[in-house]
Amino acid sequence: MTNLTDLRPRLLMGPGPSDVHPRVLEAMARPTVGHLDPQFLGVLNDIRERLQAVFQTKNELTLAVSGTGSAGMETCVVNLIEPGDKMLVCIAGVFGQRMTDVARRAGATVTTIDVPWGQVFTAEQVQAAISQSGPFKVVGIVNAETSTGAAQPIPEISQVVHDAGSLLLVDTVTSLGGMEVDVDGWQIDACYSGTQKCLSCPPGLSPVTFSPAAVAAMDARQTKVQSWYLDMSLVRQYWGTERLYHHTAPINMNYALHEALRLVLDEGLQARWQRHARVHESLKSELESLGLRYLADPAHQLPMLNAVATPEGVDEGAVRKRLLDEYDLEIGGGLGEHKGKAWRIGLMGESATPRHVEALVSALKTLL
Ligand SMILES: Cc1ncc(COP(=O)(O)O)c(C=O)c1O
Repeated sequence: MTNLTDLRPRLLMGPGPSDVHPRVLEAMARPTVGHLDPQFLGVLNDIRERLQAVFQTKNELTLAVSGTGSAGMETCVVNLIEPGDKMLVCIAGVFGQRMTDVARRAGATVTTIDVPWGQVFTAEQVQAAISQSGPFKVVGIVNAETSTGAAQPIPEISQVVHDAGSLLLVDTVTSLGGMEVDVDGWQIDACYSGTQKCLSCPPGLSPVTFSPAAVAAMDARQTKVQSWYLDMSLVRQYWGTERLYHHTAPINMNYALHEALRLVLDEGLQARWQRHARVHESLKSELESLGLRYLADPAHQLPMLNAVATPEGVDEGAVRKRLLDEYDLEIGGGLGEHKGKAWRIGLMGESATPRHVEALVSALKTLL
């Protein structure tokens, strides 16, 4: 039997969750109150305001979905898609594949385009797919592909998507809080994230935001949203002024997000992005001097997710196990076509510090 008091703290340097600030853990231990208690409704109002600041948006419909990043993905898809609607998904790794699966389950007629893992799409490629198979109601893309470590160029792609009259849906699960995400500036219509990456909050909530155009598309639906739980027409009556009961909000998780967002905004978005970039540069030069090779296109490398090829002859799982057992340090293994051949090293939120880089590099020097 596991005794929770015996849990050993780890340095979390995988693809999420990341280390959590003690203030966030303390926030979770605040008294649980009712989900309609005016005190808690104040917490929700703050969360919406803070999320608007972090997403860089004025979108009224901005809230935290009760569920992890995948629930945010599903929320965006099922609220925008009605059976038979056409959707284009740009697949550059595992999470683009997941979005495709979610869209097909929601009844979308899905067209996909692919780039090799580690590469990014050009606006011309998206334009070509729209010309060939469009028009699409929605175009979906993952900003920071956690399986490869590449950052997709959202502003350029947004332009061609909007010129074609489509809605742009963007996954910012890994990017939000660790690099620039500008929902209004980039004209993103539906955007979701997760709490456990660069926001450095435990997993459990998914921030989402919808533009006025996305809300208009939802309001114009002919059919009910396929998921009762994730139906924004219902959930927004709880987050909005009506305060209608929909489901019991995960109270203490929302406390955690409230505090985590405060830490993000106290640091300042620019300062936080710069910290991630700086710490990434130092990790990259250390890893390259150990002979490790990055897998993503260097021009589009993410700061917070460093996917590197496991050196020839090294058992990637065995090294990860020793890092965990002997150094209390977690990194991730490769996903999908990188399984067994790569490590994914996260520098996310509280885990993006020189101390983390030093700990990992010194351990790898011994283990490799
Ligand atoms: C880019 C991306 N999208 C979606 C998800 C799914 O999030 P979750 O595992 O929190 O459901 C992840 C999780 O790693 C992710 O990295």
